[in-house]
Amino acid sequence: MKKITKAVFPVAGMGSRFLPATKVSPKEMMPIVDKPLIQYAVEEAVAAGITDMVFITGRNKRAIEDHFDKAYELEAELAMRGKEELLRMVREVTPSHINCIYIRQTEPLGLGHAVLCAKPVVQDEPFAVILADDLIDGEPPAIRQMVDVFQRHQCSILGVQNVPREQTGQYGIVSCDPLETGIERVNAIVEKPRPEQAPSTLAVVGRYILTPRIFHHLEKVQAGAGGEIQLTDGIAALMREEQMLAYRFGGTRYDCGSKLGYLQATVALGLKHPEVREGFAAYLNSLK
Ligand code: UTP
Repeated sequence: MKKITKAVFPVAGMGSRFLPATKVSPKEMMPIVDKPLIQYAVEEAVAAGITDMVFITGRNKRAIEDHFDKAYELEAELAMRGKEELLRMVREVTPSHINCIYIRQTEPLGLGHAVLCAKPVVQDEPFAVILADDLIDGEPPAIRQMVDVFQRHQCSILGVQNVPREQTGQYGIVSCDPLETGIERVNAIVEKPRPEQAPSTLAVVGRYILTPRIFHHLEKVQAGAGGEIQLTDGIAALMREEQMLAYRFGGTRYDCGSKLGYLQATVALGLKHPEVREGFAAYLNSLK
């Protein structure tokens, strides 16, 4: 029985939809209320029992490395001022049992290429891929749910969700046969099909569990549209060799790579935040 102990976080994209905010800092450092997107993603992995966090970084990598590093000066300052609660919060960003590993993707050659960059660390183990800009508010957290499915099926699993047909052109879309409640067997995957050509409306969103055989296929994938190496192409090749499942995770997903999704996440999580929820709800009500 294989276990998932490693998660890959591709954080080397351009984040062009959020310029100028992403001019010098990665979009994964943008906060939802008071936590950067990447911290939500790492917390999700920790909740799934994952211990090795592999970040695929690009230009502007420093903010992410610093965020998960020990902040000696800040901690000393908070301790000196007796700000115990804030000190605890800062220390909890990186639980002591996790390892953070950084790999540089020298050029943003696509998500498939970013995942391939993790090969020297992941080697021959199955692993999770988490896209921090897809924020999923779920209980248990989405990748925990997928790790549980992996324990039973021991194969690659794609996190999927139904999307409106007019949006299929923004996603990898799968065609599946039902297997059990919430789980389907994938028999085809197409990248960004036009609505009239999409085999279904079941879209792959930013959660994957992949077997290490994916690296073999990603090494062979040719750059597609925009010169990018697509993860979808690697998955399509892997699917021809091994069983691949699609899992309809429970929870609400926010596409924080888009301005609208980012604002929706801010509202939803703001309304749940113990410190501000009442005042924020009152403010939103006053706008009606
Ligand atoms: P996106 O497709 O959202 O691209 O990447 P992007 O470049 O970050 O954002 P826009 O479209 O320019 O606004 C999905 C995920 O894959 C990572 C991104 O960081 C994001 O988490 N990625 C993408 C890489 O790590 N490397 C790449 O070459 C491309």
